[in-house]
Amino acid sequence: MIKLSQRNAIADSGVSVSPLGLGTVKLGRDKAVKYPEGFKIPDDKQALDLLAQAWDLGINLIDTAPAYGNSEQRLGKLLPQLPHDWVIATKAGEYYDPVSGASRYDFSPGSIISSVENSLKQLNREVLDIVLIHSNGNDKQVIEQEGALDTLNELKRRGLIRATGMSTKTVEGGLLALQQSDLAMVMHNLQYQDEQAVLDQAEKSGKGIFIKKALGSGHIAKDTGSQDIVQANFDFIFKEPAVSSVIIGTINPAHLAENVAKAVSAINRA
Ligand SMILES: NC(=O)c1ccc[n+]([C@@H]2O[C@H](COP(=O)([O-])OP(=O)(O)OC[C@H]3O[C@@H](n4cnc5c(N)ncnc54)[C@H](OP(=O)(O)O)[C@@H]3O)[C@@H](O)[C@H]2O)c1
Repeated sequence: MIKLSQRNAIADSGVSVSPLGLGTVKLGRDKAVKYPEGFKIPDDKQALDLLAQAWDLGINLIDTAPAYGNSEQRLGKLLPQLPHDWVIATKAGEYYDPVSGASRYDFSPGSIISSVENSLKQLNREVLDIVLIHSNGNDKQVIEQEGALDTLNELKRRGLIRATGMSTKTVEGGLLALQQSDLAMVMHNLQYQDEQAVLDQAEKSGKGIFIKKALGSGHIAKDTGSQDIVQANFDFIFKEPAVSSVIIGTINPAHLAENVAKAVSAINRA
């Protein structure tokens, strides 16, 4: 079996992650999502098998969020059945409304604090490994006017979080996030390279980078041209030294194994 053995440190937080992480939108939310096709949320047995497979393939990082429906709650129930040393990244600021199926945002200190307290409860943890501000796109305002990273950093000082960061949508926001926290989560793939400057700065300053939407939420992976598009994107992404982990959302065990094999191949050739 081809597996990932490497671990990448996130700044000086003491948290180390596998170069590929498992995204878990599809474990908890099927409304108002951006995937090319509908899907059925896996039941507990399927989800547990997927998580066990991820661990066996060398993945130690799971990415979740309150905005991913009941993803956090399910992980809190399922992960203790696989007593491994998982690193969990969660978020705060975006919330899922199960009635409307839509997202709402609140970056006020009270909301961020109660979100982190709720994540600790849902995930059955005394300390959260990684918490990211889940931006609505107004990155600069969320950081500078609403002080969302200040709130997270205060929770880190109180010992409730090991590493803080922000999932950003702008270069300005990504650079501010790197100045004020341990990592930025950015979109980057062969079709979208607008945030390259954030990757460059992370490398210079020794901060972490998570890549989201490496396969364009599945739209890129549907390209059936002559090129192996998953491999081509991984080759492109893993040659960036700043990348701590590429978070791929999959509920398909064959895709999970394929992604690990292609990530290993890309890393070995980078
Ligand atoms: N922080 C944020 O603002 C933010 C935003 C978006 C996403 N995220 C995080 O990043 C993760 C990834 O983002 P994403 O799920 O939107 O996009 P993605 O990882 O680019 O794409 C996931 C989609 O690609 C498909 N896929 C995966 N591997 C494949 C393969 N080898 N061949 C063909 N199709 C494949 C998956 O379908 P199958 O299930 O069928 O494999 C799924 O529909 C999320 O789960 C979440 O944890 C964060």
